[in-house]
Amino acid sequence: MVTLGGVEQTRTLTPRTAVIWAVLRAELDRRAGERLSVLDVGGGTGGFAVPLAEAGHRVTVVDASPDALAALTRRAAEAGVADRVRATQGDADALTGLVEPASVDLVLCHSVLEVVDAPEPVIAALAGALRPGGAASVLVAARAAAVLGRAMNGQLDAAAALAADPHGTAGGRDTLRRRYDAEGADALLTAAGLAVEEIHGVRVLADLLPAAVADGQPAALLDLEYALAAKPPYRDLAAQLHLFARRPA
Ligand SMILES: C[S@@+](CC[C@H](N)C(=O)[O-])C[C@H]1O[C@@H](n2cnc3c(N)ncnc32)[C@H](O)[C@@H]1O
Repeated sequence: MVTLGGVEQTRTLTPRTAVIWAVLRAELDRRAGERLSVLDVGGGTGGFAVPLAEAGHRVTVVDASPDALAALTRRAAEAGVADRVRATQGDADALTGLVEPASVDLVLCHSVLEVVDAPEPVIAALAGALRPGGAASVLVAARAAAVLGRAMNGQLDAAAALAADPHGTAGGRDTLRRRYDAEGADALLTAAGLAVEEIHGVRVLADLLPAAVADGQPAALLDLEYALAAKPPYRDLAAQLHLFARRPA
């Protein structure tokens, strides 16, 4: 279960989402009683946007995909929060034309920087959308886990290419355009004027375990994910890195 601002959400936490919700919950608790303006860049079908709207916040999702936005709109209607969710088709690096500058309390950008043409203008745009003191939740694919994953699958050439490539891709057939380590992701956000407050690993163990273990002991796995998420070297072996940053007040 997720509890947001005192509102219990009927969603089961998984290793994909639990650590991120823990970080977001702390920010929502810090601002308890406020109705926040939230922007979800590349928010897709609303896996984060709809629970945030259910907790009473106003959420704008900007996404390039009309299909994803249609699914988001249906999901918001089914959850009874259509009036608090705005779906806007648009490009992540053109946010300045879609969102008023310095108008947002919390911006999410999850699993998007790996696929856009260039991440720098996207981060600059989302930093510009934040009010001073507002917070950014950024989730990126991690390079080290991708190298290990390829190697463990016997794809040693792809592992070597990924380890050597400056952007952390495995070449032409790779579905992602870049991957990060903690320092690189931190530097990207810092260069846009954001102060990085926390970095967590997401799915430190979940992708490494046999399905029988992960499915058979879900509570123990979540406890371990929470315990390891903030601690190098475990953090740096996670499939994804979650950065929580703030626009200085
Ligand atoms: C992997 S999905 C992540 C969805 C969601 N943020 C999540 O974590 O579940 C990537 C999303 O980014 C959107 N996207 C990709 N490139 C984009 C761009 N240049 N501008 C806006 N959205 C984009 C896709 O349509 C898709 O919905």
